[in-house]
Amino acid sequence: MSEFKIETDTQEPNLDTAMKVIYQWNYEPEVEELRRLYCKATEAQWVAEREIDWERPIDKDLFAAEPLGSAVPIEKTSYWKSLGEEMQWNVGRRTAAFRLSNFLHGEQGALMVAAQLVNAVPHTDAKFYAATQTMDEARHVEVFAKYINKLDEVRPIAQPLKDVLDETLRTDDWLKKLVGMQIVVEGLALYSFREMRNLTHEPLLKDLLTYVARDESRHHAYGVQYVSRCVPELSDAKRIELEDFALEASRTLIDSRNQKTFFTEALKIWSELGVDVGALMQSLQKERDELTRDQRPGRRLGPITGFVIPTLRRCGLLSERVASHYHDFLKENLGTNLVGEDVAQFMELLPDLPEDTGRWVMGELN
Ligand SMILES: [Fe+2]
Ligand SMILES: [Fe+2]
Repeated sequence: MSEFKIETDTQEPNLDTAMKVIYQWNYEPEVEELRRLYCKATEAQWVAEREIDWERPIDKDLFAAEPLGSAVPIEKTSYWKSLGEEMQWNVGRRTAAFRLSNFLHGEQGALMVAAQLVNAVPHTDAKFYAATQTMDEARHVEVFAKYINKLDEVRPIAQPLKDVLDETLRTDDWLKKLVGMQIVVEGLALYSFREMRNLTHEPLLKDLLTYVARDESRHHAYGVQYVSRCVPELSDAKRIELEDFALEASRTLIDSRNQKTFFTEALKIWSELGVDVGALMQSLQKERDELTRDQRPGRRLGPITGFVIPTLRRCGLLSERVASHYHDFLKENLGTNLVGEDVAQFMELLPDLPEDTGRWVMGELN
């Protein structure tokens, strides 16, 4: 426990936000699906200290079986295999702590936005629901921080994520907060948690991701249900503003330059540990064809194409106009073979949202 101070060394400078607060005098259920979701959320509350066995040490062997999470399978190169077990464990745990730190910081952002939503949304049912989400997000911050402490230390937030969180916190428009947080950030989180949960065999990590992902699928449902109720009521101008807000947030999060910064950060951590990054890259270059030969030809759509954009479509926020902007920037980042030649092809490539995100996130549905 650190010493109590009013101002701490770890806090950020103030972020000015402009939020309108709305009282609502009608306490009767009004948006039934949100009231139901709220009831479901109150029943699904869990206690991180009690439900998860934190005494367990991290299972190093099972942990090591997990890929490092880079686009190319570094852990299969001969250079990587030549590193001793101890070095592999150190690189693995630090890389994981680095990735999980961004989940952790994202959870803090979600915690604060959810709390803002309690104030900002106009319907009582929506305020109730946002209150349960606030509690959920506090718990998510708690469990990610705990797990990271078992691995290594918390690393700083990636700038693009910080930018999107700032924008979402800053806007005075509750619908933009909903779209930025519940659709873009939560969509990305849900997709990534699912992926990590399916890949990892480390029992403690799998356990906590199971609990967290269950909550997240409710958060996503809140966004979808609430936003799709609101969109048909909006003027064209207002709808366009919302579409653009989502577009900007998505663009910031998956810009290839940002992905490169992410990789450079990881390399820095590895060379600090004494990995010869040059030799690793050389070995990767030489063996790349062989390593990727067995990879399934199936396309990995990624969180934005595979989940966020389909969610926006479900909510009525994917007009032809904005779809062509998505197509343009995705083509720039990923190439036409992943996103199609034109908007029409792109729209056809977009998957439908899973019928039941709760089951999908547990790997029970494709
Ligand atoms: Fe969360
Ligand atoms: Fe969430």
